[in-house]
Amino acid sequence: MVDLKIENLTKKYGETTALDKFSIDIKSGELMVLLGPSGCGKTTAIRCIAGLIAPTNGQIYLGNKKVNELSPKDRDVAMVFQNYALYPHMSIHDNIAFPLKMRKKSKSDIQEKVIKMAELLGIRDLLDRKPKELSGGQMQRVALGRALVREPKLFLMDEPLSNLDAKLRTHMRTEIKKLQKKIGITTLYITHDQVEAMSMADRIAIMKNGNIQQIGTPTEVYHQPNNTFVGQFIGNPQMNLISGSIKDESLFLFSQPIIIQPVDKTLLEKKLTPKFIVGIRPRDVIIIKETDIFTGIRLDGTVVFIEMLGDDTTVEVKIGSDSLLVTINNILNPFHVGDIIEIGIEYSKMHFFDDEGTRID
Ligand SMILES: Nc1ncnc2c1ncn2[C@@H]1O[C@H](COP(=O)(O)OP(=O)(O)OP(=O)(O)O)[C@@H](O)[C@H]1O
Ligand SMILES: [Mg+2]
Repeated sequence: MVDLKIENLTKKYGETTALDKFSIDIKSGELMVLLGPSGCGKTTAIRCIAGLIAPTNGQIYLGNKKVNELSPKDRDVAMVFQNYALYPHMSIHDNIAFPLKMRKKSKSDIQEKVIKMAELLGIRDLLDRKPKELSGGQMQRVALGRALVREPKLFLMDEPLSNLDAKLRTHMRTEIKKLQKKIGITTLYITHDQVEAMSMADRIAIMKNGNIQQIGTPTEVYHQPNNTFVGQFIGNPQMNLISGSIKDESLFLFSQPIIIQPVDKTLLEKKLTPKFIVGIRPRDVIIIKETDIFTGIRLDGTVVFIEMLGDDTTVEVKIGSDSLLVTINNILNPFHVGDIIEIGIEYSKMHFFDDEGTRID
């Protein structure tokens, strides 16, 4: 097990800067997920680490060793892609054995390692089949086996589950996480799916335009997003962003004055910029019933859209000319489009950002 350290990795393709001073430390045995929208540079980062492309600038250390100058095969890194092409004419056994044969391992050594890996992945009874006789999930397991059988130092995965259907994807992400922990291999896993990232990661690195916006545990990035980009990228439906300002001890949200209760004066002590942004997650907005006692911020709004999502329902509420998404439990949904309702926001659930979107604490 080794750790991976990347310093100021930059990759330019002509005018395009795919990676811009990308830096990250991955601890030995850790599963780090790299999460970000399409085109933000995830694949470029992983390809530089694997040695498939050369960075324009920056250093890559595996353990204490700088590996920039090493060829891919000398880096001892395994990679699994979205298209995990298995060799169609070979049996599953030979597919998994292939990397060991290439390294001229002895027959008995190969046999022992292939069986051990197949058992770990629960595919021992499939070893005599050909790839076309397997399901998508089984093929994915074989691809993992083939990548890991030679016991590499580092495991890189680039959206390995995106070809699978939703149910299998959920199942496989749990399997990959368990396997990674069992083997204890340092892993960098790429996805643009925030749920996949949250469920698998020891830590998540959120990327935008070639660099990292925040690195933290799933809990940290959800509860303490560094900026509005991270706030909105993690969580579904996305975090509401509301413009805010403070004048004469009144808090204005959605251009409406909200009188601050004495107990909430701490708000005034925050280092708020004259204009700021309040983030509130749809799940943290409350719909107040007439009989409720609620001491936070209360606002009237009109229901303009209702979206049923299974366990939850998203309600879009228009407040003045702005709108706010509210997540409610299905069973408790007595609302209709056009209803006037009162919503509540607790001060403790509000995230504050300056007008450029950086978190204020
Ligand atoms: N070989 C290349 N030549 C020129 N530009 C490239 C090349 N490869 C990638 N790019 C550009 O670099 C940027 C980052 O691409 P990259 O493939 O790393 O994104 P990504 O985060 O993996 O996206 P996705 O989620 O869609 O896979 C994009 O703007 C892309 O168009
Ligand atoms: Mg990619």
